[in-house]
Amino acid sequence: MTAQISSLAEPGRDCPLCPRLVDFRHGNREKFPDWHNGPVISFGPKDAAFLIVGLAPGLRGANRTARPFTGDYAGDLLYQTLDRFGFSEGTYVSEGKDDLKLVDCRITNAVRCVPPENKPIGAEVKACAPFLQMELAGPRRVVLALGGLAHGAVLSGLGIPKSRFKFGHNAVHEPGAGFTLVNSYHCSRYNTNTGKLTESMFEDVFRTIRSLLDTD
Ligand code: URA
Repeated sequence: MTAQISSLAEPGRDCPLCPRLVDFRHGNREKFPDWHNGPVISFGPKDAAFLIVGLAPGLRGANRTARPFTGDYAGDLLYQTLDRFGFSEGTYVSEGKDDLKLVDCRITNAVRCVPPENKPIGAEVKACAPFLQMELAGPRRVVLALGGLAHGAVLSGLGIPKSRFKFGHNAVHEPGAGFTLVNSYHCSRYNTNTGKLTESMFEDVFRTIRSLLDTD
């Protein structure tokens, strides 16, 4: 499986796998001709020990700028926290035209194309799974799932029933895949506005990850 996965190409600009997302993409290309409006490829070194798995590109964020989490509120919080914990160098600019480099860290999404209302359906997570599996097959030591959907997508990608590892904020799981799986509530504006996730709760997760990576 590993050889097949590591030779898999990134989804093409006109990836046809998810009819609903293809329709949405066509509409967005008409409405916003200057935006990226295509699958968003992962960001960061391929051999990073630390992989972050988000949900899907935000309409006005990654779908516009072509870089995961770049250009929306979730990205402001994520990139600021990565900087604080030494996972980036350079300066993040929300348009993505910056000198930012991730350090031993890579960011991907469970679903590569922007979904209507920010909600991918199960069939889309399944169709995109080979691309996530390709990311999980890298030399990862820690994988951070942002939100329950990303957690489920990682487990499905590993062929593990979701019921085996219950999602919980700052929960640490050992799925037996060569890396530790850590959970966080998604760093969306909704979660921070409602108080479900505070900056300090998000930092707690990164403290956990730093200590996992700094051990042995
Ligand atoms: N932007 C992304 O790329 N992923 C998310 O999950 C949210 C915003």
